[in-house]
Amino acid sequence: MSDSRKQAWQALREQTVETLATLFAADPGRLAKLSARLEIGTGGVLFDWSKTHLTDGLLDGFESLAEASGFSEMRRKLFAGEVVNPTEGRAAEHSSLRGVGKEASTEEAAALRARMQLLVEAIHEGALGEVRHLIHIGIGGSALGPALAVDALARDFALVDVHVVSNIDGVALEAAFAACDPATTLVAVASKTFTTIETMTNATSALKWLADNGVIDPYGRVIALTAAPEKAVEWGVDETRILPFAESVGGRYSIWSSIGFPVAMAVGWEDFQAMLDGAAAVDVHFRDTDGRANLPLRAAFADQLYSRLRGAQTRAVFAYDERLRLLPSYLQQLEMESNGKSVTAEGKPVEGPTAPITWGGVGTDAQHAVFQLLHQGTHLVPVDFIASIAPGDELDPAHHRILLMNCFAQGAALMAGKDSDDLARAYPGDRPSATILVDDLDAATLGALIAFHEHRTFANAVLMGINAFDQFGVELGKEIARKIEKGGEGFDASTEALLAAAGLG
Ligand code: F6P
Repeated sequence: MSDSRKQAWQALREQTVETLATLFAADPGRLAKLSARLEIGTGGVLFDWSKTHLTDGLLDGFESLAEASGFSEMRRKLFAGEVVNPTEGRAAEHSSLRGVGKEASTEEAAALRARMQLLVEAIHEGALGEVRHLIHIGIGGSALGPALAVDALARDFALVDVHVVSNIDGVALEAAFAACDPATTLVAVASKTFTTIETMTNATSALKWLADNGVIDPYGRVIALTAAPEKAVEWGVDETRILPFAESVGGRYSIWSSIGFPVAMAVGWEDFQAMLDGAAAVDVHFRDTDGRANLPLRAAFADQLYSRLRGAQTRAVFAYDERLRLLPSYLQQLEMESNGKSVTAEGKPVEGPTAPITWGGVGTDAQHAVFQLLHQGTHLVPVDFIASIAPGDELDPAHHRILLMNCFAQGAALMAGKDSDDLARAYPGDRPSATILVDDLDAATLGALIAFHEHRTFANAVLMGINAFDQFGVELGKEIARKIEKGGEGFDASTEALLAAAGLG
């Protein structure tokens, strides 16, 4: 760690911080200082960090840390399409898919997007016959984004009924088969590498299902979404139905690429483009704003305050919106696969804890299940609440009113706590939370929310001195599974016994 980074962390550690109640009482301007609004399309997003322990002093300290960590230069490299993933010698060009990045990359992305739009619109217009269902097969970053966006945006009305299947457990694929009519089903095979065993096995079974159910040319019903088009050709997909994307787009950052095909199929091209535009508004803000006014960077300051300075091992995200029920799992991959590292970008042991465990759920359900621990447990868990001012339902407005009131009440209760002579009934309070409130959850604000978290993840990585864009930790398990499949021997006694018990030894 450079001397300036060491000093910046040390200076942060030395700051004493008052309780949230004291901070609010001492500074009437606290809310104004720690909340901000980002305009996205015709709406916007309000961020409120006033119920975290961030202070002017800590914000100054984190700005010094960002400077000592070379944040501005790393961000310049990110948007310039330069290498920010040194172990793999790659750029990370997801923002160029939204039109913000190196010129050559944004142009290439626009050309690929135009091709995807042509195919999506042609299918909507009947070029492949009647299409009522789409089985989207992919895993990790090739599934979580499409599942989230389709679930969030295509609830009331979907142009095509989308089923996202990721698990190799055949139960998942069978459920999709049961819900689809093979004669009107398309299969999207989504895999950056086009080699992932779960995806390729599921895709093969989907082809068989089509063939077994009277589809004469099953390959003619397949769309491939991949950064390895040559592999898709080899596998049998016609080039006209392969939608490629660039190698410099990471799997967990790929919803903006052709991996978003099922989203465009379900909601139509205009809304898919609106999602990209919402994300682009965040890109421009993140690229052009310095210091604490940069909202993803400010969120990362709060993250580092709790994980590195106060030892929080987890962070929780609660969506007070049924449409965002998949957001916590999406963020789990984004944050944990990006920043779950134990070496720095230079390959040295890290200087402190890296990504906390991201977990969460949906409000108000979670209040009746896990919030007890948040209020009275012994763990420090910083919480993000995410909600929409406009309702997603058309029922009695009481539903949405009660939903939002509960969301805000939880943040207030976490902070306030409650004194009682009876310790069993006492709440310590002073527990941090941040609130992210969109005016209305639509394609643009969903895009903005996702991009905000992408940049927050990157900012955290820079502050911790790690590489957010590789994921070597997932390789070993895959390697061992391959060895087992090939009939390899010499595993540990426990694994050998499990294999024997399952008849696989
Ligand atoms: O196993 C992890 C991972 O490599 C993820 O990073 C990725 O999103 C997922 O597998 C799927 O990979 P692919 O898109 O190449 O099938």
